[in-house]
Amino acid sequence: MTSITSNSAISSTTRSATPPAPGDADERATYAVALERSAVLDALIDEHAVGVDGTGTEGAARFRMLTGDRPTGPLHIGHYLASLRNRVRLQDKGVETFVVIADYQVITDRDSVGEIGANVQGLVLDYLAAGLDPTRTTIFTHSAVPALNQLMLPFLSLVTDAELRRNPTVKDELALSDGRPLSGLLLTYPVHQAADILFCHSRIVPVGRDQLPHLEQTRAIARRFNQRYAAGHSVFAEPEALLSEVPLLLGTDGTKMSKSKGNVINLRDSADETAARVRAARTDSERRITFDPKGRPAVANLLTIAGLFLDEAPEAVAEQVGDGGAQALKSVVTDAVNESLAGHRARRADLARDPAYVTSVLHEGNARANEVAERTLATVRAVMGMSY
Ligand code: TRP
Repeated sequence: MTSITSNSAISSTTRSATPPAPGDADERATYAVALERSAVLDALIDEHAVGVDGTGTEGAARFRMLTGDRPTGPLHIGHYLASLRNRVRLQDKGVETFVVIADYQVITDRDSVGEIGANVQGLVLDYLAAGLDPTRTTIFTHSAVPALNQLMLPFLSLVTDAELRRNPTVKDELALSDGRPLSGLLLTYPVHQAADILFCHSRIVPVGRDQLPHLEQTRAIARRFNQRYAAGHSVFAEPEALLSEVPLLLGTDGTKMSKSKGNVINLRDSADETAARVRAARTDSERRITFDPKGRPAVANLLTIAGLFLDEAPEAVAEQVGDGGAQALKSVVTDAVNESLAGHRARRADLARDPAYVTSVLHEGNARANEVAERTLATVRAVMGMSY
């Protein structure tokens, strides 16, 4: 086994440099284990990857993966750097890929579905523009796959309400939902997410650190299903997290990225909008640019963004800017983002002119997801003695 990932220069440094997020000792321990395991998974995927010329053992296909997004708004550069690029990379190594557009998850913590149609369309555009290939990757929406949703019923019998109330991600999302009461859907969505992951027997789930509790819940559901309903036979394998190698990125004001704060750069933004957003970014008045995440978080964040797009360490970007001050830094960041995304944005604009094609991608993805889900549900019914 050789390198851990293809862009190991960046990933091996940034992965271990991820600052400890708030979390108790248990969370940090789980995270540390998941990090180690992710490195092993990456290496195994590399070992079995198909070559660029399509040759290889094709063993990577056994690492079926599922991940997804909530269609609540446009994808931004954080999504691109931390997850979208990585999905394409895994797809291209031959990993069989499923991407769920989690439309039912939109209403876990809000009263309306919002611009759901446009948001779903926007996600598909970004997926395709980024290089997800609908002939190899199944892109589908929750709401179109009844058999997936039905798995939630037996799965709900395998969890307790205490366990769901303890889930840190559920607690965080509730805290962020402006004093809203805890809905049944928010409480149980980790179980729904388990159905997303298990309906297609996904083995690996690329996620951020915040989603690790859901993965633990999913693993428990798989284990308990096998024990309780399948006499110990492995109907569902326990999936594993593949943690993002990218450190948490902040918005252009140095605080958490948020649509309402206007501090994000969206993938669909024009080069001029990007330049304006970076020009307005918070920095400081020190002329010498240094990478100092603790002392100069906003500057460090801009250096990190430029570094990720340029495939360079943030320290090296700082070195290049040298005494150029905030203005030179901002021009490096703007060019890095705009040049890296020029192709993506052009492809996205082209695809947007053909909404019928985008719809057909979803229809085909939904059809494929339905086939897989119906097969899994048939197995579940059979092992539970419910084939009538
Ligand atoms: N909960 C994820 C998010 O908010 C989206 C998601 C839905 C997901 N189903 C999933 C992620 C299954 C991984 C696996 O980003």
